[in-house]
Amino acid sequence: MRTVLYPGSFDPVTLGHMDIIGRAATAFDRVIVGVLYNPDKPSGMLTTAQRVECLREATAGLENVRVAAFSGLLVDAVRACGADAVVRGLRTEGDCDVEMQMARLNRQMGGVETVFLAASPACMHISASMVRQIATMNGSLRGLVPPSLEARLETLLRRTK
Ligand code: PNS
Repeated sequence: MRTVLYPGSFDPVTLGHMDIIGRAATAFDRVIVGVLYNPDKPSGMLTTAQRVECLREATAGLENVRVAAFSGLLVDAVRACGADAVVRGLRTEGDCDVEMQMARLNRQMGGVETVFLAASPACMHISASMVRQIATMNGSLRGLVPPSLEARLETLLRRTK
C-alpha cells in the first residue's frame, strides 16, 4: 500500500491544493494532508486548528484522504505517519527552484523521496497568499477555494479594521 504525505501551510486551503489532493488520491492508496509550519511564512492568518478543520471539510468526500497537523521537520512528519513519499504540486518555474532544493534536502536528510504533480492549468494562478490578500480586502473567494468554504473563509480572513 502506497501512502503519501502532502504537506503545506494551507493558510487557507485553495482549489489549487484540492487539485493536487484529488489527483494524489487517485494515484496513491492513501493520502495524508499534513498542515506544517513554514518558517518563511511566520505570520499565518488562520490557526492550525482552523486550517485542519477547513481541510477536513474540503476532503470529506475523499475516502482515502486524512488530515493531520505536524510540528518540526517534514522528514520527521514522513516518518511519524509512515508515508512512503512526499507529494508537492508545481505551478511555475519559480515553484520548481524552491521545490527542487526542498526535495534534495529532504532526500539527503531523511531518504525521503518527493513526487511532483504538475498543477492543472485551471489552477496555476491560484495561491494561498493571493487568496488571503483578496479576502482581507473584502473580495469574493468564488472559484479560488472549495465552494463549501467560501463564506466561512471570507469571514475568517476579512480585515476587521
Ligand atoms: O504550503 P507551503 O508554505 O509551500 O509549504 C511549505 C512546507 C510547510 C511544506 C515547508 O515549509 C516545510 O516542509 N516545513 C517543515 C519544516 C522543514 O522540514 N523545513 C525544511 C525543508 S527542506
